[in-house]
Amino acid sequence: MKRDLLTLADQGPEALGDLLALARALKAEHAAGGIPPLLAGRTLGMIFQKPSLRTRVSFEMAMRHLGGHALYLSPDEIRLGERESVPDVARVLSRYVDAIMARVFAHDHVVALAQWASVPVINGLSDYSHPCQALADLLTIQEKLGTLSGVRLAYVGDGNNVLTSLLFGAALTGMALTAATPPDYAPSPEVVSRAKALAGPTGASLQIGTDPAEAVAGAQVVYTDTWTSMGQEAEAAVRRDAFADFQVNEALLAGASVDVGVMHCLPAHRGEEITDAVVDGPHSWLFDQAENRLHAQKAVLVDLLTR
Ligand code: CP
Ligand code: NVA
Repeated sequence: MKRDLLTLADQGPEALGDLLALARALKAEHAAGGIPPLLAGRTLGMIFQKPSLRTRVSFEMAMRHLGGHALYLSPDEIRLGERESVPDVARVLSRYVDAIMARVFAHDHVVALAQWASVPVINGLSDYSHPCQALADLLTIQEKLGTLSGVRLAYVGDGNNVLTSLLFGAALTGMALTAATPPDYAPSPEVVSRAKALAGPTGASLQIGTDPAEAVAGAQVVYTDTWTSMGQEAEAAVRRDAFADFQVNEALLAGASVDVGVMHCLPAHRGEEITDAVVDGPHSWLFDQAENRLHAQKAVLVDLLTR
């Protein structure tokens, strides 16, 4: 039966560990001069309702490195659910391509695509979650620190799709995640209880608070994301005020571990959620993290299309 990747919460700890191991192996093979064409002749259809640099290019290059092909479908082209219903798009595309990656506004759309497509569907970011990002993030932390279990990760900023996937990923890998968000921008109770349920068997610790300094104290990794996600542009001014005290800057990092690593899914809004000095400074893992989208997604593609 075909499988999909809609949220990390659908994975078990073992399946997630296997995906990360596959990503590490594919990355090593790539560095050693090339990976076998595991997806020769296979095609990925990529539906975008929102802009993208990393997701678009890393999926396209992942397919190319694996001997396959990716097809970019722009927001204006398909107009998912407007020009054509989601079930019809899913059924038609399934006749042409071997897998679908979709970046959507409503998470329900990626769920409906998966329900109606006869090929695997990958969530390339929805308003609910960003599982491919979290996979790359876990791969990065594992590479930098040698482990995930027990790692102290602080998230400062919006309780958005990126935090949701980090909570699920941290829960499944036994990390200690402390988030600080403004009170009105906390992750939803549904997300928190789903993540806590996943954390039971792994011993992960998940805490949601409102004090950035408290969250960052002693952290090995500090993570942030934009204050205004795609689709929330009308709220930008209100959000700038609400998040003013939630900037990742050198003063905040002074309270973290001395060799703290800083992460951001990018794009960064320099001077808002993160400063130039931090993005470009010695603690920045941002560009290694961006690179790892390529390797993590290769693992997802190989897993969904060959196993
Ligand atoms: N981090 C991320 O998903 O980047 P893009 O929006 O550029 O794809
Ligand atoms: N939270 C951001 C992530 C961008 C990669 C957004 O949804 O716009």
